[in-house]
Amino acid sequence: MKNLFVASLLFLFAASGTALAGNAEAGKTKSAACAGCHGADGNSPVPNFPKLAGQNEAYIVKQIKDFKANSTRKNEIMFGMAAALTDEDAKDIGAYFQAQSVAQAATFDASKIAAGREIYKGGNLQTGVPACQACHGPAGGGVAGIGYPQLGGQHVDYILAQLKAFKDGSRSNDNKMLMRSIVKKLSDNDMTAVANYIASLK
Ligand code: HEC
Ligand code: HEC
Repeated sequence: MKNLFVASLLFLFAASGTALAGNAEAGKTKSAACAGCHGADGNSPVPNFPKLAGQNEAYIVKQIKDFKANSTRKNEIMFGMAAALTDEDAKDIGAYFQAQSVAQAATFDASKIAAGREIYKGGNLQTGVPACQACHGPAGGGVAGIGYPQLGGQHVDYILAQLKAFKDGSRSNDNKMLMRSIVKKLSDNDMTAVANYIASLK
């Protein structure tokens, strides 16, 4: 009982320690350079520009670091944007976007949601696909303290592009191959279904 108590205190400390690393107020000003593509509150209106609203700081900071390194996650636009940011900027901007609320995606194919929900909630026992919700949360909110990304409400096109990039290896910044080992067991139909389900979450 006592150990459990100590463990939960440590967890709380770790989680709030991460949440408070950046200064959201400063981040709001610094995020002006991002608004043109990602939206002022992080709810980007363009399907291939990812939403950052509600995304956790730890994940945002890691992606900026990875874009800067330009090796395991490459994107020309973001390579240029990330190069201009200090570690402090990345934390502040991350704290700002984490404090915003994500809206449901504007468009998704409702006929794909049932199949997508099955994969998201239960995985596929036969092919060994784990439930997405185990790491991305039952409602797609992610796990802030350890930087597991929020997915709920994200654009279908962006989600699909990332799943394909993990599958063909052009994105390989997932520690311990967490995502690459999963997507190789997903068919194109599975990926389309789960992407539409994710977009419908909010
Ligand atoms: C000209 C458009 C543009 C601007 C301006 C821009 N971005 Fe991006 N950003 C993108 C695109 C496109 C991607 C998707 C890259 C990919 O496909 O991997 C992206 C991806 C990201 C991601 C990864 C999101 C995820 O879910 O993994 C983060 C974090 C990010 N941008 C942060 C920023 C920040 C911070 C700024 C401002 C300093 C910024 N971006 C400015 C276009 C832009
Ligand atoms: C064991 C944990 C785990 C499971 C299970 C998991 N993921 Fe992930 N996923 C991650 C992590 C960690 C990342 C971030 C990798 C990185 O650092 O860039 C990620 C990233 C992603 C991204 C990219 C997000 C973005 O904003 O660019 C998508 C899309 C995604 N996962 C979809 C799924 C789907 C769909 C499933 C279920 C079929 C799933 N994940 C199951 C851990 C997991």
